[in-house]
Amino acid sequence: MSLFDPCVIGGIESRNHFVRSATWRGTGDDDGHPTEKTKQILCDLADGDVGVIITSFACVDNYEKSLHNMLGIYDDSFIPEYKEIVDAVHARGGKIVMQIAHGSSQSQEHPETARILGPSPVKDLNTRIIPQEMNYDDIAAVVKLFVSAAVRVKKAGFDGVQLHCAHGYLLSRFISPFYNRRLDEFGGTMKNQVRIIEAILMSIKAILGDDYPVWIKMNSVDELPKGCENGLTVDQFVKMGKILAKKGIDCFEVSGLGWNNHDQFKERAYYLEGARALAFEIDKDVILTGGMREYDMMKKIDQNQGVHFFGFSRPLIKDPYFIKKLEAEA
Ligand SMILES: Cc1cc2nc3c(=O)[nH]c(=O)nc-3n(C[C@H](O)[C@H](O)[C@H](O)COP(=O)(O)O)c2cc1C
Repeated sequence: MSLFDPCVIGGIESRNHFVRSATWRGTGDDDGHPTEKTKQILCDLADGDVGVIITSFACVDNYEKSLHNMLGIYDDSFIPEYKEIVDAVHARGGKIVMQIAHGSSQSQEHPETARILGPSPVKDLNTRIIPQEMNYDDIAAVVKLFVSAAVRVKKAGFDGVQLHCAHGYLLSRFISPFYNRRLDEFGGTMKNQVRIIEAILMSIKAILGDDYPVWIKMNSVDELPKGCENGLTVDQFVKMGKILAKKGIDCFEVSGLGWNNHDQFKERAYYLEGARALAFEIDKDVILTGGMREYDMMKKIDQNQGVHFFGFSRPLIKDPYFIKKLEAEA
């Protein structure tokens, strides 16, 4: 089978095995509403034969915003706007998933006014921000925000929703033993660390039905600086992935906290270890993202490592027709 053959990825029929990984492009307006530029970028990707496009991360609430001009999905006024974009992508033969996110301390547009939440008050090694430890009301409120956002995502016609549990944003802090120091039922063991994600997932499935694809992008490793103990390991990631697969996550995109520290020109497939280990253990689809560039490399991974789907961000920023180039290489 060729990677250019039609297939099903995490419950979504796709024209090939290639995914545009979620990519912030700064095209939202001041309130996170999509603009003509947002639509243009996504339509170009669909014209470029991307199988499944994952949007930029979209904030589930506007009380905290991770990046300037990021997209939002925090009230119903977004539904008709995204519907227009989704219809345009579908008309071009593409599929589209919305990534939904809650910020935490990793990146904040307004750290002086935002109420920055985290599992534990541990200083962010990047931003030096110390988040407020979430109490049970905060956890319940965040679960509700994700679930309401997912309902809007489906109403807007997206083919699925992806929970952002990577790159230091809120959910990824829960799966990191370095950042999650809780000793209650939301920390201390792997089962407890994924409990907030499980709560979001179960509520989404209860409301939207088991068939609606719920994907997750997950750190497979924390890659903390030397001297910092207790970062997430691949072994722990796989154990947590197995729990979430059993609970109904349809597709795992594998990334890592240090994605931005890898040399994008020289390094390749830097999260293969986690993706391969997880794919071996579960019967759900796994997407490998990060340094995927040459067709031959992907073909070898597909044939020998049990990972069959590949995600790209920077190659598709540079050229929305990158998939067509891959096809010419094949
Ligand atoms: C400009 C830019 C914006 C990004 N925005 C997001 C995002 O919104 N959500 C996300 O999960 N990852 C985001 N990423 C990370 C990518 O999805 C991807 O994981 C990473 O770039 C590695 O893939 P690549 O080597 O193909 O670029 C972004 C990356 C870049 C370069």
